[in-house]
Amino acid sequence: TRTQVAIVGGGPAGLMLSHLLHRSGIECVVVDNRTVEEIRTTHRAGILERDSVRLLAETGVYETGHERVITHGDRHGGIYLRFGGGSHHIDFEELVGASVWLYPQTAVFVDVHAARTRDGGDLRYGITDTAVHDLDTDRPRVTYADLDGRAHEVTADLVVGADGSRSLCRDHVEARSRYFREYPFAWFGILCEAPRSAPELIYTRSDRGFALISQRTDTVQRMYFQCDPAEEASAWSDDRIWSELQARLSGPDGFELEEGPVIERTVLPFRSFVQTPMRSGRLLLAGDAAHTVPPTGAKGLNLALADTRVLAEVIERAIGKGDLDALDAYTDRALQRVWKAQHFSYWMTTMLHRAPGQQEHRDFDELRQLGELTSLVSSEAGATYLAEGYTGWPTA
Ligand code: DHB
Repeated sequence: TRTQVAIVGGGPAGLMLSHLLHRSGIECVVVDNRTVEEIRTTHRAGILERDSVRLLAETGVYETGHERVITHGDRHGGIYLRFGGGSHHIDFEELVGASVWLYPQTAVFVDVHAARTRDGGDLRYGITDTAVHDLDTDRPRVTYADLDGRAHEVTADLVVGADGSRSLCRDHVEARSRYFREYPFAWFGILCEAPRSAPELIYTRSDRGFALISQRTDTVQRMYFQCDPAEEASAWSDDRIWSELQARLSGPDGFELEEGPVIERTVLPFRSFVQTPMRSGRLLLAGDAAHTVPPTGAKGLNLALADTRVLAEVIERAIGKGDLDALDAYTDRALQRVWKAQHFSYWMTTMLHRAPGQQEHRDFDELRQLGELTSLVSSEAGATYLAEGYTGWPTA
């Protein structure tokens, strides 16, 4: 096959990019070694920034008047920060005139996949042995094998690696620098059958570690708590999960956490990572292939969608003018937001998690964290910083 842009990775980033390119009359082929079913059923984060909602609602993903992200998502005007046994509301609408939407990443995938299918997109899922070649020529290629073992080849003008945190494309970027940060903890994530415990999300700092009470529907909730990275999800009974969550949420204000059967449990990886540049020659990276954030603050998907917005723009210009120089702006423009989001995710993480270590350091950190949280909730300047970052920065 000959196309203009070959996209490796058909998650939300790869699909959104192919949707935006299609709207500009640029042909592309998407390949992914996972099946649609595998992606659709892998639970990820659930919060969309204001501009991510706009990108979905205003670029023709939906038929006009049927914007599922609006009709099926829940608008949240703020979050609760919980510490010292009490909850403090951060009101994004009042502080920055913006809100976020609770709409799971799996639903974003389903919607953009439906749009690409409706528009006749060339999507090839469930393939194997994907490889990229000839990136230093003007005819880069992506090869793969189908389920029957037959070899295929896609020749393109440009290749985009939107292939996630275990990206194979990222190793082909020349002159790369890699920045890492590891954390001495992970998240234990559950889905459970229970009613909501609060109207909005609760980010909790407790002496036993972090906990996050998120939501999915009226009857299914998503929750996370800080755990050891080596924790085995299967070793935790429902009772043990609930007593740990209750211990982290309980307080003198009498807060009640609603319980129910746990229907899914997983331990989530936790790291910060950036690779620069995000482009070399005819290869460009988008989303987790170029950068990973820890989950606190739900920036991963939003950052990937922001990349696709910038990337679609520079690719349109490059292909329209037949001039690759238009791609030069991509890394710098994308990285401005990437580093803001890296800081925001790191900051939310370190403000709310308990780091192991010497007792005297832990005691200091605990009181310092409470000092930080108290100043945040009692200062309009502090709360506004949180509100701006959480609802998302404008795109450069
Ligand atoms: C969810 C995940 C997050 O990491 C977060 O910060 C907020 C919500 C979620 O899955 O609902």
